[in-house]
Amino acid sequence: MKKNYILFIDSGIGGLTTLCECVKNLNADYLYFADNDNAPYGNHTATEIYEFLKRIISSLLLKFNIKIIVLACNTATTSAIRKLRLEFSNIIFIGTEPAIKLAENNKYSKACCAVTPATSKQKQFKSLVKSSTIKIRLYMPKMLALCIEKYYTIKTIINFYNLYKELINISKNSKHCDCIVLGCTHYIFLKEHLCKLTRKKVFDGNQGVSKQLQKIYNNIPHSKNIKSTIKFFVSNNKINSKEIYKKIFQEILAKV
Ligand code: DGL
Repeated sequence: MKKNYILFIDSGIGGLTTLCECVKNLNADYLYFADNDNAPYGNHTATEIYEFLKRIISSLLLKFNIKIIVLACNTATTSAIRKLRLEFSNIIFIGTEPAIKLAENNKYSKACCAVTPATSKQKQFKSLVKSSTIKIRLYMPKMLALCIEKYYTIKTIINFYNLYKELINISKNSKHCDCIVLGCTHYIFLKEHLCKLTRKKVFDGNQGVSKQLQKIYNNIPHSKNIKSTIKFFVSNNKINSKEIYKKIFQEILAKV
C-alpha cells in the first residue's frame, strides 16, 4: 500500500510539541515542515501566511501522498485554514486553536491568553474569545515566538536573557488570572517554567489536536504502522537547522 503521509506545518519549532503529542498516541508516517525562512508568522498578514502555506503544500504534494495536514500553529490556523480548505479540497486539515474551551470546561474563571499579534487580529480568534464564558485577558507579545525559536535552536546567554525577560512579562500579565492559555505552539516550550513561576494551571491545545488526528486517521484507509516514521523539512537550511529540529524533537519526545 502506498504511504499516506500526515503533514505538520509550523513556522519553526513550536509545532514539534504538537508532533510529539501525536507521535506518542498514533503510529503513522509523518512529515514536519518548518517554515523558518518566513518566521515569525505572528508578524505577517493573513494573506502572506496563506501564500507561504499554499506554496509549501503545493510543492510537498508533488512528492508525497498527503491525506491529512495539521497546522501545528495557531497563527496559521486562524489566518489561513478556511482558504486552504477551499484550495486543497481533497485534503483534511486539522487546525490548532487556543485552548480557551479547555480552561472553560475545567471551571476556571479568568484566563490570560497569550497569542501572536497576527492571531489576535483574526476574525476566527475574535469569535472564539467572544463566545467564551470566561473572562479573557489578551497578551500579544511581538517577540516571544522569535525569542523561543532563537533560544532553543542556539543557546546563547543573550538569547537566554531575552527569553527570561519575556517569561517574566507573561507572568506579570497573568497576575489577576487563575490560569494561562498558550495560544501559540512556540509558547508551549515555556509551559513547565510558567507553571513553576506562576503556580497557575497552564493550558495548550496539543491534546485536542492529537485526539482529533487519531479520530480522523482511523477513519481513512492507511497502512498499519508498527512504528512511526518522520521526515523533517526546513525552508532555510543555512545553519544545519534540519538536524537541530530533529534533535529538539528527540529531546521533547524523551521527556513525555
Ligand atoms: N507557532 C506559531 C503559533 O502557534 C507561530 C509562531 C510565529 O509567530 O511564527 O502561532
